[in-house]
Amino acid sequence: MEQFDLDLQRDRFLKIFDEKISDREGKDALRAWLTGSECDFFTAPASTKYHGNYEGGLCEHSLDVYDMAVRLENLYAEDIRKQYLVLNRPYDRARFQESMAVAALFHDLCKVNFYTVKIRGRSSIFTVEEQLPFGGHGSKSVYILSKYLKDIRDEEAIAINCHMGFSRAVDSTVSLGESFHYSPLAWLIHVADEAATFLLDRVKPEEY
Ligand SMILES: [Fe+2]
Ligand SMILES: [Fe+2]
Repeated sequence: MEQFDLDLQRDRFLKIFDEKISDREGKDALRAWLTGSECDFFTAPASTKYHGNYEGGLCEHSLDVYDMAVRLENLYAEDIRKQYLVLNRPYDRARFQESMAVAALFHDLCKVNFYTVKIRGRSSIFTVEEQLPFGGHGSKSVYILSKYLKDIRDEEAIAINCHMGFSRAVDSTVSLGESFHYSPLAWLIHVADEAATFLLDRVKPEEY
């Protein structure tokens, strides 16, 4: 990705961050960390071989998940409202949308400072060089986010922890169905992640 595109993407991410997330405890610290030199979020790839395996892939994928989540939330807004009635928990659409932004933008935070560039011949490739061997995928993202966003909500944590769904259920000791039933947001973020990965994948098939 060219520097110009990286900058545009970073600006869009920060605009959504600034506008869609309210003034919560730790928001400023989270923004400072994201934009500081210790964090490679805006240049990191999203994988070594699959979706977003290039510079800026992680931010691009996180924005894709956000865009897919917005579309799904619009489609299912009424169903989500009714489901909260069934669950007997309060529902506020603006609050739900804010949590959706938090979960979508930061669901793959575990990939920050995770990849490194290796030069092979004339080309460069990304390889994994884990700097924080936490173990889980979703749970590591929750852990990193909660270091900054001090008032992370239960549904945000559940949504991030379960976003891989059945393909990587090891982070969860309860059944995923139980988490998805408890949290419409968790189901929505999982589906948005799948849609962003498999419908918006920009890698050519022959590169798989
Ligand atoms: Fe993920
Ligand atoms: Fe993802």
